[in-house]
Amino acid sequence: MCGIVGVTCLQGKLSSPAKIIRKCLEKLEYRGYDSVGLASIFKGMIVVRKGKGKIEEVHRRMNFDGVPGNTVIGHTRWATHGAPSDNNAHPHIDCGRIVAIVHNGIIKNYMELKKKLIAKGHIFRSETDTEVVAHLIEEYLNKGFKPYEAFKKAISHVKGSYAIAAIIISEPNTIFFAKKDSPLIIGIGDGFNFIASDIPAFLEHTRRIVVVKDFEVGYITPTNVFIENLHTGKIVDLSKRLRFISWTAEMAAKAGYPHYMLKEIHEQPRALRETINGLGEEIEQAANMIINARRVFITAAGTSFHAGLVLDYYLNSIAGIATIPLIASEYSKYVRSVKHGDLLIAISQSGETIDTLMAVREFKKRGAKILAISNVIDSAIPRESDLTVYTRAGPEIGVAATKTFTTQVLVELATVLKAAELNNSLDVSEIADLRKQLEKTPKIVEKTIMKHEAFVNSIAEIVHRKNSMYYLGRGLGVPIAMEGALKLKEIAYIHAEAYPAGESKHGPIALVEKDFPVLFIVLDDENSENILGNVTEMKARNALTIGLIPEHFEEFKEVLDHSIKIPLHDHLISPMTYTPILQLLAYYSAVKRGYDPDKPRNLAKTVTVE
Ligand code: G6P
Repeated sequence: MCGIVGVTCLQGKLSSPAKIIRKCLEKLEYRGYDSVGLASIFKGMIVVRKGKGKIEEVHRRMNFDGVPGNTVIGHTRWATHGAPSDNNAHPHIDCGRIVAIVHNGIIKNYMELKKKLIAKGHIFRSETDTEVVAHLIEEYLNKGFKPYEAFKKAISHVKGSYAIAAIIISEPNTIFFAKKDSPLIIGIGDGFNFIASDIPAFLEHTRRIVVVKDFEVGYITPTNVFIENLHTGKIVDLSKRLRFISWTAEMAAKAGYPHYMLKEIHEQPRALRETINGLGEEIEQAANMIINARRVFITAAGTSFHAGLVLDYYLNSIAGIATIPLIASEYSKYVRSVKHGDLLIAISQSGETIDTLMAVREFKKRGAKILAISNVIDSAIPRESDLTVYTRAGPEIGVAATKTFTTQVLVELATVLKAAELNNSLDVSEIADLRKQLEKTPKIVEKTIMKHEAFVNSIAEIVHRKNSMYYLGRGLGVPIAMEGALKLKEIAYIHAEAYPAGESKHGPIALVEKDFPVLFIVLDDENSENILGNVTEMKARNALTIGLIPEHFEEFKEVLDHSIKIPLHDHLISPMTYTPILQLLAYYSAVKRGYDPDKPRNLAKTVTVE
């Protein structure tokens, strides 16, 4: 959940390495922003500057750019063990100030290690799990181990998840690292090397990368990268791992938008187009896995779970395949029933969400095949899956998922259409029609955003003053409503609840009084008559009714207080065309309430703790 980064360079190769690390941290801030810190080695000493707060605030107090030295590590934190505070901010150091360390993950056995270290006389300054590693390294250094050996020895005691970078004063031009379950990437430069939690952190400086895998340890110096397996000692052949990143650092920056989220909402037509262009043979392989499965489970968290519910709708209604959708953190209920022949479809934009990863592991252990849908190549879930279909949304920095949702839906529909073709559950001509619609989707999304953004902004003027809101839909409209409500909750901090419109009469309607906002997702499908009835019921209670409706649905315009007319298309495309409107509504509501939509309180982009 935290972001780590480090650089080591030859003298003069990079001007102000500390400033570079601060900038890298800004790109990682979406991973957590409770505290931030830097450490370097300078003239045989470890220099540490760190504190509670966002990078900009702490930098103002501490002047990160003034940290001297050519070997610098940095960290941006999302608190797990120990509250956000100056002391709990990383980097952490040992008693003798000979080691500094940054860590992303959770050290499960830290209490046990801490007790032993305290018994040996170590003094702890923080409540974090991380600090034990600094003291462990010190322990082995004091026993006479060389720095890298001491580092490896320390890591061998650690249980849990980690991406760790450490500096040790006796090796001033080296950053040691280790990885299990948390992401870690090396960026290879000319006379310098980086290490970071993800690629955009250092993309401005190099596009040559090596992805570190679980149980690997090693070190970087300005001119060398060494990686080996912690247990077997097998050395990694870097020439086989080296990759070139084609997307640019600019693509990861805000490109003139006030927030990443708005930029990412607007990027959807392009992300959808690139995802269509990237569809390959794996769609047929995935479709085959689905039609040959004994049972199909679908799992994910957050927005990806809503994409999972869309997939559930598609598989049932297009391909006639029943599914079992489950929220990833609830997987344990199903574990005993899982058998060989079952399939788990795991959806995760980051590919690192721990709940989804754990579900994957448990299902796999019991013989299920795993099909992943992810946006991040070589991330943990794809690595552990039998097959991955990738979305091509590019990096998503805003904490609230936007373009990654619509691209997930796109690959789902492409896969299900293939499954329907293979199991003959849908007419060939209908499949061909839907494929054409899919091709047109990026254009429809572009038109919809352009046409309605200003109007949605004016509706946000009303919504942002409310404390509570309902999102109602039927059929495929339900997961769209759920995603809309989640967005409003996440970034505008307005209580929002999504319900199947028919079910709203069994409870939620009791709360409706004059001007209570109710937003309807109206699709061009068999539910339109019933949902019109639901709008009328809400109107009769003086609710403030807002509707996303197909543009030719005249009768709805007469009942609704505010109608947003979506261009005509098959209702199966709707999660991609309607959701951007709901994203914009949440975005403008958040901004009008004075919140930063890119960094919602208490939330993190990638949740790597259970
Ligand atoms: C966090 C993010 C959400 C995201 C969810 C699942 O809660 O804030 O935006 O939908 O994790 O993430 P994943 O990377 O697995 O799709």
